[in-house]
Amino acid sequence: MPAPAAIRPADATAIADAAAILRRGGLVAFPTETVYGLGADAGNDRAVAAIFAAKGRPQFNPLIVHVPGLADAEALALFTPLARRLAEAFWPGALTLVLPRRPEARLSLLVSAGLDTVALRAPSNVTARALLMAAGCPIAAPSANRSGSVSPTTAQHVAESLGDGVEMILDGGPTTLGIESTVIGFDDGQPVLLRPGAVPREAIEKIAGPLKQAGEKIASPGMLASHYAPRAPMRLNARDVAADEALLGFGADVPEGAKVTLNLSPAGDRTEAAANLFAMLRALDAAGAARIAVMPIPAQGLGEAINDRLARAAAPRNTP
Ligand code: TXA
Ligand code: MG
Repeated sequence: MPAPAAIRPADATAIADAAAILRRGGLVAFPTETVYGLGADAGNDRAVAAIFAAKGRPQFNPLIVHVPGLADAEALALFTPLARRLAEAFWPGALTLVLPRRPEARLSLLVSAGLDTVALRAPSNVTARALLMAAGCPIAAPSANRSGSVSPTTAQHVAESLGDGVEMILDGGPTTLGIESTVIGFDDGQPVLLRPGAVPREAIEKIAGPLKQAGEKIASPGMLASHYAPRAPMRLNARDVAADEALLGFGADVPEGAKVTLNLSPAGDRTEAAANLFAMLRALDAAGAARIAVMPIPAQGLGEAINDRLARAAAPRNTP
């Protein structure tokens, strides 16, 4: 088992230290009213990639971005009147809203796993709120457990699950609700229950009317037709490149001659590669090449998630 991270009682000093860690791109686990979250600056690609590495996630699932309140959320995403009413009714609290990202928002593309939407929540837990205020940035945070294990409701659970994958664990005692937030998305303006959670459906329906059930395609965001895939066809595991191709490189040994070349990580660092993945795919697509050739990425660590995402982006397209 890895060495346990520092568990600190969530007093003012620990919260200030945690905020400093977040601002310099580190990871901090913190309590919310639902479960403990594994937090990073949501605007820092590298820090968000480190979340996936610490969780050992085989896929890049989109993450919830935590904010102090509605005004902060509106700076990041486009709210409809209904979304605003839901936020006003349930925030701060255990409701997460999935909304279109503002193009200019300072948000990592990795928090959305390449989607054009972002999940937002204003937590009510006092420690979470103090941390958000002290950090001064939106905090991306999935549940603070390794992928596939249960969500942590105490600081001790986090330490057992993540070990030294996190720099500091703020201990705010056991979480009060103990299950994750309810996630609501919108399909043509109609509210959809994407994940049942701590706010019961009935409470939401009092404000939003009947919720649509998440269908097959909405249930797994990785499969969504709207999931970002480049317009240009992709060629994976490329070891050479043609003049009309755009090249997505990895490592030091990159072939020359492409129309345009970007390198996920010249040093061959997979966390850096994950941080660059979605932004570079978009940039290469914008270059208007006939095809995007992608060099092989070794499968260890975040390589598995990177390859999963590349395989989806390269798969034959569903017509939306
Ligand atoms: O209570 C909670 O929600 C906790 C605390 C820490 O806030 N967080 C949490 O995060 O459970 P996570 O990453 O374990 O679950 C996030 C859920 C996933 O089901 C994910 O698919 C969904 O939110 N989600 C996030 N962004 C989305 C998006 N853009 N579109 C669709 N679903 C999204
Ligand atoms: Mg989770």
